[in-house]
Amino acid sequence: MVHGDLSAVGRTAFAVALARATEAARDHPWFVDPLAVRLAAAVPPATKSRVGIGLTAWVAVRTRFLDELILQSAERGIRQVVIIGAGLDARAFRLGLPDDLMIYELDREDVFAAKRRIMQAANLASPARHEIVADVLEAGWLQSIEYSGWRSDQPTLWILEGFLIYFESEARTRILTELARASARGSELGVTMSTRTDEPVHPLWKPFDADDLDGWFADCGWQADVTNMADASGRYGRPLPTGVAERVSGLLVAARRSIDSQPPGDR
Ligand SMILES: C[S@@+](CC[C@H](N)C(=O)[O-])C[C@H]1O[C@@H](n2cnc3c(N)ncnc32)[C@H](O)[C@@H]1O
Repeated sequence: MVHGDLSAVGRTAFAVALARATEAARDHPWFVDPLAVRLAAAVPPATKSRVGIGLTAWVAVRTRFLDELILQSAERGIRQVVIIGAGLDARAFRLGLPDDLMIYELDREDVFAAKRRIMQAANLASPARHEIVADVLEAGWLQSIEYSGWRSDQPTLWILEGFLIYFESEARTRILTELARASARGSELGVTMSTRTDEPVHPLWKPFDADDLDGWFADCGWQADVTNMADASGRYGRPLPTGVAERVSGLLVAARRSIDSQPPGDR
């Protein structure tokens, strides 16, 4: 059931889910992720012990941040959430979203094949959830989302969680710009990114220059509100464990589509 056939990048989704599973065992957990808990029950203890304290703290705070963003955007009336690089994201099963809110998950087929097996074992299903098998480095991925029912003329909340770090700077810019251009007025974006981590840095991670983040998002068509993981964790009432802030640096971004990034024939 676990991740024997996965690509290296697909496996990263499993590490994140294992980090997420530990939240359920805490007093007053911020979230309980049934898919992650089911996965954790199926892997050997040695695999679980490889998930470090820094990743665990980072995944907890970014999950809470985006959970709140999704719930707030639903209150603002958004009825489409598109999760790019969804991995083992279980928000379709655990957030208690309005019945008419659709969740579109985009990722690679190897990840979805493994995810389906865990969903089946955990008896998880949601009529709101749509799977889109696509690679954002190949042309046509936005059309693939459209084919599965997403509406470009309706506001969307895009979620890019632990995703952009796998792309070179040019591809990151292109992805964010394409999303802004494809977005209807009132669309929003949630992004999380690590800017540094424990040595050695993950071999798949690409360097990221976090200087003038607001300016970069603005150039891509998004008005961004950026916070860091230490501030967010403190605000949620759980200061980071000792030493984590020195080793891991995560950024949490909530953005709105800029008025001047209207696509041609804006709705
Ligand atoms: C670190 S995981 C994060 C998963 C999920 N967002 C979360 O936070 O639990 C990164 C995910 O991005 C996906 N991914 C990486 N490159 C991709 C690409 N070019 N196209 C589509 N998905 C990609 C991987 O398959 C993986 O599931």
